[in-house]
Amino acid sequence: MRAVVCSGSGGVEVMSVGDAPAPTPGSDEVVLEVAATAVNRADLMQRQGFYPPPPGASEILGLECSGVVAAVGDGVEGWSVGDEACALLAGGGYAAEVAVPAGQLLPIPAGIDLVTAAALPEVTCTVWSNVFMVAALQQHETLLVHGGSSGIGTMAIQLAKALGARVLVTAGTQEKLEACRTLGADVAINYREEDFLEVVRAETDGGVDVILDNMGAKYLERNVKALATNGRLVTIGLQGGRKGELDLGALLTKRAAVMATSLRGRPLEEKAAIVASVRDNVWPLIEAGHVRPIVHRVLTLDDVQEAHRTVEAGEHIGKVLMTV
Ligand SMILES: NC(=O)c1ccc[n+]([C@@H]2O[C@H](COP(=O)([O-])OP(=O)(O)OC[C@H]3O[C@@H](n4cnc5c(N)ncnc54)[C@H](OP(=O)(O)O)[C@@H]3O)[C@@H](O)[C@H]2O)c1
Repeated sequence: MRAVVCSGSGGVEVMSVGDAPAPTPGSDEVVLEVAATAVNRADLMQRQGFYPPPPGASEILGLECSGVVAAVGDGVEGWSVGDEACALLAGGGYAAEVAVPAGQLLPIPAGIDLVTAAALPEVTCTVWSNVFMVAALQQHETLLVHGGSSGIGTMAIQLAKALGARVLVTAGTQEKLEACRTLGADVAINYREEDFLEVVRAETDGGVDVILDNMGAKYLERNVKALATNGRLVTIGLQGGRKGELDLGALLTKRAAVMATSLRGRPLEEKAAIVASVRDNVWPLIEAGHVRPIVHRVLTLDDVQEAHRTVEAGEHIGKVLMTV
């Protein structure tokens, strides 16, 4: 089958479209004929050799896709050949076909076309599991989203607003700040020009309840200071480094919590539980038009180098997709 193959680890030039063995469905799996896939920051790290696939996962890049069920393995219920779906993947999305555990399939939400649906699985599952299942953001609480115009950020803003929270974001350009405001952000902070901690202190009564953090060590101290009493910091990215100093005294006084999670390597049952919760809680918001996938650009698999370049350069607001 057609697939993006890597000649080694490195820059975008290691990727090209070539041939790879087509998958067959194992038990409890289906094979999707891929319509579209999306670029995630994690794909850039995998291409550079810093983020190997978990044991048993496809070596091919691609953590999400949309497509049509082409084959169904033993034990799969509720899915048939010809059904349209989108899927959370541990790898393999940059290809004509991919095998997926049935628990990681989602129907295409009403009102969303098949290609655009490729923008949904990774951001909905990551934001829902971290902000709502782990950090338990409540209506009327306040959420700070770092990187508000990212794929993840654009979904976090919309979901938190749809569920009645107040949202602060950071982003690096005026255009991105404006996009975040358009999606519903109440306060947008230019991290290149302002100290987000000072803005949080000015804009809140004692801090934010939840922070969705992509920066890790670089923001750890200020994130902890920005938390309100009973606040929850969830780190999902380490763009600012992995090792920082944690002020336990500050956490203790605030009765606050610091958590960090990764979706890709979780056991299948945990992923299936997240996907089921997303289907129950997020899909109705999409189908009602309260939340929508934000797509910056749709390229083709043959443009894979350009797709990675766009995300690497930070030119995008929302997701970059590739049709297959
Ligand atoms: N743990 C998990 O399971 C999981 C799952 C999915 C994603 N993630 C992580 O979530 C993050 C977003 O993923 P994505 O695929 O949506 O990536 P993306 O679209 O490439 O976004 C990266 C974001 O980082 C922001 N950023 C860079 N420097 C910053 C700074 N100093 N302060 C605040 N923001 C800064 C960028 O903001 P500007 O463009 O405004 O500069 C951009 O919004 C990544 O770190 C990714 O690894 C984790």
